Amino acid sequence: MTFNSNTGGRIIGWGIALGSDLITNHDLASRMDTSDEWIKERTGISERRIGGTTSGLAIQAAKDALKVANCSPDEIDMLILATTTPDDQVPATSAMVQDLLGLKCGAMDINAACSGFVYSLVAGFGMLGLGNKRVLVIGSETLSRITDWEDRSTAILFGDAAGAVVIEATDTQSALLGWELSCDGSLRDILHAEIGGTIVMSGQEVFRKAVIAMTDSALTSIKNAGLTSEDIAFVIPHQANIRIIESAMKRLQIPIEKAVSVLHKTGNTSSASIPLALVDAVQDGRIKKGDNLLLVGFGAGMTSASAILNWGGPE
Ligand code: ACO
Repeated sequence: MTFNSNTGGRIIGWGIALGSDLITNHDLASRMDTSDEWIKERTGISERRIGGTTSGLAIQAAKDALKVANCSPDEIDMLILATTTPDDQVPATSAMVQDLLGLKCGAMDINAACSGFVYSLVAGFGMLGLGNKRVLVIGSETLSRITDWEDRSTAILFGDAAGAVVIEATDTQSALLGWELSCDGSLRDILHAEIGGTIVMSGQEVFRKAVIAMTDSALTSIKNAGLTSEDIAFVIPHQANIRIIESAMKRLQIPIEKAVSVLHKTGNTSSASIPLALVDAVQDGRIKKGDNLLLVGFGAGMTSASAILNWGGPE
């Protein structure tokens, strides 16, 4: 395969999967000192789904994405799986997904926490430039496995899910108009989990840094795309906390109505959260051909990532 800097790409398929079991705020309030009102007011979350494996959810989402793309497993040239909750230490979860989906291509995991899907999507577009025709990009997480279910400050936040897209090379204008990936590793301690441990987080500090990181990344991507905030039809933000989304939208001077949110029914699903929101807005017809989308996330690391996509969809 050869490098072709003129090769663009577009998303031609999408799918999602949610954890098997519904856990409402009321369920959590019956187990720990919290309430539906507190969780809704401070986070925007009403319920989340947990259960399943990272590979299992990834496979479910990917099967739907392949179906929408009208593409068989042997037409995929590369699998990139974003996850911060791999099923095993070794090998990468993408190896299991590659096998069980019947793919005949390279497969790798990317761990950039909640920024992982956008990191992987940008890497996927890069692989198209390197000669791949179709790349399967998945964000899949089982955060419930690394959640301390006794800790009310984190147990209320997380859910399990996966989202997948198929991107295809095109010699017309690329759907990816601009992007930005960054990491400030000096902030790694404000949100972390040791191997075998559970998530420990300085909630308020993560909150403050997240708003700044998301906004800075988004503005850079908008500028890189040669656009202004007014050109953005929809923002697809990482689904962590509705107050983080509201603050970031205010700083970006984009009306809150343009933010897509599924947080109330999914909780924070890390690298799955952006594709969950994207697919929601595609499936209900909100996103139309030609719309400029801003995908933007932040996560442990502390990573942040954004991408501007001109939505093309399947012909
Ligand atoms: N129910 C009731 N009270 C609670 C709960 C709860 N579930 N959790 C905390 N409290 C209490 C605290 O103990 C505290 O009580 P005190 O005043 O008596 O000490 C009070 O509520 C306020 O606590 P804060 O931590 O200040 O609450 P805050 O408004 O900051 O909300 C939250 C906490 C929701 C965690 C918020 O800080 C947040 O969303 N932070 C960002 C989280 C995030 O985005 N994480 C990304 C993780 S993604 C990844 O990479 C895996």
